[in-house]
Amino acid sequence: MSRSALPTRVALVTGGIGGIGTEICRQLARAGRQVIALDLASREERVAAFRDEVAGFGGAIVFEPIDVSDFDSCRQAVERIGQRHGSVDILINAAGITRDASLRKMTPQQWHELMRVNLDGVFNMCRHVVEGMTARGFGRIVNISSVNGQTGQFGQTNYSAAKAGVHGFSMALARETARKGVTVNTVSPGYCDTPMVAAVPVDIRAQIIAGIPVGRLGAPADIARAVAFLAADDAGYITGANLPVNGGYFMSF
Ligand code: CAA
Repeated sequence: MSRSALPTRVALVTGGIGGIGTEICRQLARAGRQVIALDLASREERVAAFRDEVAGFGGAIVFEPIDVSDFDSCRQAVERIGQRHGSVDILINAAGITRDASLRKMTPQQWHELMRVNLDGVFNMCRHVVEGMTARGFGRIVNISSVNGQTGQFGQTNYSAAKAGVHGFSMALARETARKGVTVNTVSPGYCDTPMVAAVPVDIRAQIIAGIPVGRLGAPADIARAVAFLAADDAGYITGANLPVNGGYFMSF
């Protein structure tokens, strides 16, 4: 099929106005997708800045409010988007937060807040799009995990548990959807140049950067490139995989 004959795929990106999410939106739009950036409407200033940043894409990137930790908010957003743009072909779950504290200091609130966004959010979104994807025989789901889900990180029992859970979830769902044209994969970023990593205390951050073989933080574009690769129409034989993008910070077979 020639490129112009390819159908326009509708792609949702949760955490779409965040450090990595914004770049994912851009790369998917450049690949010809109709992109809907989903994020909390309460981040008003950031929403306005995002709209300016993607203005050059015209209508190819639009913003829709969502709270991924709320099952019904996700259902309503998917229904709204279905009416405005058509059924969802691609879902990128990039919404994530940190609530860092060593376990001896971690409050139940820090644990549950993080789980509701980073893990429940993936369930909430996938649950509302997967049936449509399997019924139509095409879908691409990419869940953003983290190197810290693979290795564990001091002060991140909550985050590491959720991010490891994200890949377990992806492998299980990949099996459920493999025969229906729907792939489910994970991308595990290392430490990237984003506000989330900028919030890590400066001395700890310096130590981490010193341990990255490539010698720098990742750029959001490094991550978005991997996501766009897995979300491509012709990536149908890659499923249940984890693609690490960490500058060599953690290598495994
Ligand atoms: N490794 C080993 N020991 C450590 C440590 C580490 N990384 N960090 C702190 N400690 C030690 C301290 O030296 C101190 O030792 P002593 O008691 O002997 O003096 C002790 O642990 C302090 O323990 P506390 O429970 O009091 O820890 P704290 O409250 O001072 O700090 C923390 C805990 C806030 C979690 C801090 O360690 C921290 O911010 N760590 C960085 C966490 C991190 O990397 N987050 C990543 C965020 S970005 C992200 O998540 C994106 C992604 O996907 C990669």
